[in-house]
Amino acid sequence: MPKTIIAANWKMNKTSSQAQEFITQLQKELESPDESDKEVIICPNDTLLHLFKDSGLNYGAQNMYSEEEGAFTGETSPLMLKELGCQYVIIGHSERRQYFGETNQSVNKKLKLALKHGLKPIFCVGETLEQREAGKTQQVVETQIKEGLYNLQATSYNLVIAYEPVWAIGTGKTAAPEQAQEVHAQIRALATSETSILYGGSVKPANISQLMAQKDINGALVGGASLDVESFIQIINY
Ligand code: PGA
Repeated sequence: MPKTIIAANWKMNKTSSQAQEFITQLQKELESPDESDKEVIICPNDTLLHLFKDSGLNYGAQNMYSEEEGAFTGETSPLMLKELGCQYVIIGHSERRQYFGETNQSVNKKLKLALKHGLKPIFCVGETLEQREAGKTQQVVETQIKEGLYNLQATSYNLVIAYEPVWAIGTGKTAAPEQAQEVHAQIRALATSETSILYGGSVKPANISQLMAQKDINGALVGGASLDVESFIQIINY
């Protein structure tokens, strides 16, 4: 059975003091993470990762570079994330693909390096509105997965996949649960039966339970609604 995962993607939000306040509140309201059947993961900005070190919370980065070290000004290596105690790293988020030129090939390189260093990738895929309207959703997602996982046999067991339709991210337009399930079932056929497949794109307290009722939706990657501790807790306790 795939594990149920609720992950927060804070994107470029929160300063250290705001993050600390959130952590303190979340610690108070969450049961011991080990006793819960759901895994909660926070992916803050890299400058905030150290705050999570002794927090008892699971955490990861939002991106990493595809080399271990060297002259790559402004980048962060998987070795650095590992030493900061990260268990996870988001790879191939649509904002990285859209604004920072990431391709299936660069995503593949990052996935391999993350796995080599024991970081569990949260590998993001999803179609744009234009691609959906042209009837290309299945083809686009399949290509992203096949090229992203190229030469990575059986290691898909060690990663999480997030389906995030680009048109649903930060727009308030969530995919209908059945619409999401259709793509999740296609992804399931390309992954293992143990792989957690998360849905992302305008997940909120009001729509989480219908999404989670779908057979192949094993959790959520939450952006906007994860910034407010109350709404994030409502999502966790859907
Ligand atoms: P959103 O973002 O929940 O704000 O739509 C999700 C994401 O980009 O991971």
